[in-house]
Amino acid sequence: MLFLELNAPDHILEAINYQILTAYCHTLHILRPAKSPGFSYAWLELISHRLFLGRMLGLTPQQKGWGMYAQLLVDLFKYLAPFLRNAELAKPVTLLYKGTLRVLLVLLHDFPEFLCDYHYGFCDVIPPNCIQMRNLILSAFPRNMRLPDPFTPNLKVDMLSEISHAPRVLTNFTTMILPHTFKKDLDTYLKARSPVTFLSELRSNLQVCNEPGLRYNISLMNALVLYVGTQAISYIRNKGLAPNMSTIAHSAHMDIFQNLAVDLDTEGRYLFLNAIANQLRYPNSHTHYFSCTLLYLFAEANTEAIQEQITRVLLERLIVNRPHPWGLLITFIELIKNPTYKFWNHEFVHCAPEIEK
Ligand SMILES: *[C@@H]1O[C@H](CO)[C@@H](O)[C@H](O)[C@H]1NC(C)=O
Ligand SMILES: *[C@@H]1O[C@H](CO)[C@@H](O)[C@H](O)[C@H]1NC(C)=O
Ligand SMILES: *[C@@H]1O[C@H](CO)[C@@H](O)[C@H](O)[C@H]1NC(C)=O
Repeated sequence: MLFLELNAPDHILEAINYQILTAYCHTLHILRPAKSPGFSYAWLELISHRLFLGRMLGLTPQQKGWGMYAQLLVDLFKYLAPFLRNAELAKPVTLLYKGTLRVLLVLLHDFPEFLCDYHYGFCDVIPPNCIQMRNLILSAFPRNMRLPDPFTPNLKVDMLSEISHAPRVLTNFTTMILPHTFKKDLDTYLKARSPVTFLSELRSNLQVCNEPGLRYNISLMNALVLYVGTQAISYIRNKGLAPNMSTIAHSAHMDIFQNLAVDLDTEGRYLFLNAIANQLRYPNSHTHYFSCTLLYLFAEANTEAIQEQITRVLLERLIVNRPHPWGLLITFIELIKNPTYKFWNHEFVHCAPEIEK
């Protein structure tokens, strides 16, 4: 009631709208589910109230409230994460989970640009096994964009003008590459393509403990993958070329990705491939680069285990209910249709009739 009154159309109140919203957001952040679990249903109801949502995300000048609202969603995802990670959904948590999916559907419908801009920060805190939740976020695309039908025969993704534009990523992933000495070594390697010890030590830099399921620092992996990818795009552009299946090859950037694909164990490689798949969204330069990269890693893989895992990461995101991100679809269609990948010759494709179908 207080919120409704404070947001009444009144010229004096309008002047302090932003301050009021800020105060509400700070308060809701302090009362986040992790701090007061007993309040979490009411909390979710408040943050998803159409008036609150509309005010936060529709505020003019545009996007002044977006960062604050993103923080509240991150609070929600972080609270749910330990339950979702173990697929341990007791009834009360199931309710909260379903409510969260509903909020995401509303956002996808009414404020897709918001999901686009913050996808990175959200995917960073959503556990790897929450496929549908991530798909909802990754399916968002700017409303002024028309996506070519991924099932168009001979769709020429290289010819789309959108793939030369970088998407907005409102999370500073560069600062998440820590410690600073690692970031410095990474930049040195990207510049000089040496020393090779950087590659051999990469795995231990990402590893945080020996406990299965928690071995790797997922945030660091995500930041590393996106940073190396964006650096690769600028590197190729600076040579006056555009990223494609041949220009992405034989570079410091691809060395790093190939090294990760080969050197990591199953758990680490899964997280690495997920970090790539998180960039397969609407047509933009990141989607295009990472789509090519995933296909390149498949084509150049030295073991079938890598190819099987790439297939798994794509397929598990496609067998859940819609929506499916556009970039995911075009990558998978290319993989199964283009004979250069010899996809259908692999044994793992035929291991189960459902998969083959
Ligand atoms: C992100 O952080 C880096 C390093 O601190 C800084 O150079 C860069 O300007 C920041 N980018 C944005 C978009 O704030
Ligand atoms: C994981 O990486 C992030 C970002 O680099 C860092 O802030 C965090 O402390 C790391 N976590 C562990 C357990 O090392
Ligand atoms: C990639 O782009 C370069 C020039 O930008 C072009 O010469 C080459 O044929 C392209 N390769 C593929 C596989 O499209």
